Amino acid sequence: MINKIESLLKETKEFSPKNPTEIEEFRIKMLGKKGAVTEIFEEFKTIPGEKKKEFGQKINALKNAVQQKIEEIKNSLTASYDYEKMDDPSRPGNNAPIGSRHPISLVKNEIIEIFTRLGYTVADGPEIEDDWHVFSALNFPPEHPARDMQDTFFIEKDPDVLLRTHTSSIQVRVMETQQPPIRVICPGRVFRNEAISARAHCIFHQVEGLYIDENVTFADLKQSILYFAKDLFGEDATIRLRPSYFPFTEPSAEVDVSCNLCGGKGCAVCKGSGWLEIMGCGMVDPNVLESCGIDSNKYSGFAFGMGIERISMLKYGVRDLRLYFENDLRFLRQFDSVI
Ligand code: DAH
Repeated sequence: MINKIESLLKETKEFSPKNPTEIEEFRIKMLGKKGAVTEIFEEFKTIPGEKKKEFGQKINALKNAVQQKIEEIKNSLTASYDYEKMDDPSRPGNNAPIGSRHPISLVKNEIIEIFTRLGYTVADGPEIEDDWHVFSALNFPPEHPARDMQDTFFIEKDPDVLLRTHTSSIQVRVMETQQPPIRVICPGRVFRNEAISARAHCIFHQVEGLYIDENVTFADLKQSILYFAKDLFGEDATIRLRPSYFPFTEPSAEVDVSCNLCGGKGCAVCKGSGWLEIMGCGMVDPNVLESCGIDSNKYSGFAFGMGIERISMLKYGVRDLRLYFENDLRFLRQFDSVI
């Protein structure tokens, strides 16, 4: 019996498991119902009285040694790395910090998503443009103030190379290369020589829309914009169109949506009017169609353009335009999203 105890002690000392399963096997082998240590306790009953003390101490020492060993190994394994976690593929993984989308991207994606549902495709164009695509093809008279150095960042003069001041330039590029039916949405960055403030910036984002086919009417324009406004601002949203002027559309209108903050009753954001201005629009001027090689007798169409920052400010209640460009995480973290 002494020999048995000695050899079990030796085995315990030398025991070095490779994984938690081996520790458990060892525990059962030693301390389980039919385990080696348990068996020795059984044998102990047959030991004559005068030897009981000596044997009792040895057996207890063995049992303690086994328990201590198991504890030690378990502790060292969890201290070096979490063995149990590694071993269980069904456990949830560690939380990796993920970023969130920029509010401008969120709104841009939402606008694209709404219009692609209506059959629009997305078109792109260059940020560095020429006079033709930004102004001349869009029916801007030569003396129009928007061409002034005040508004436009010129890179070169004669021939003019400039940063586009609106994404309407993309509609020109689309019309030059495609024949109707045309249904495109053109998101992009635009540049204007303006002082930076809470309400203006020299860089901002726009989405331009263009729809050209036979028999396109102002009613189609109004209905498309109403559908868009309801989708973006909620089913209760209504719109109103105010007459306006743009060189490239005739007639032209400014679109207001009912204020989503006060439900049209009037508040600080809508300055008591109950309406928020969201975009410009109109029927594409026949001069523009002809400039781009589209037969204005056969085709008609509408166009619209909106600022993404403005829509995002209204949607999320952002009061200062500069927040969009400062990359302050305290601001950006409020837009956690997976879209
Ligand atoms: N390009 C205009 C701007 O930058 C926005 C705009 C107004 C676009 C009316 C349009 C439109 O297509 O029809 O302010």
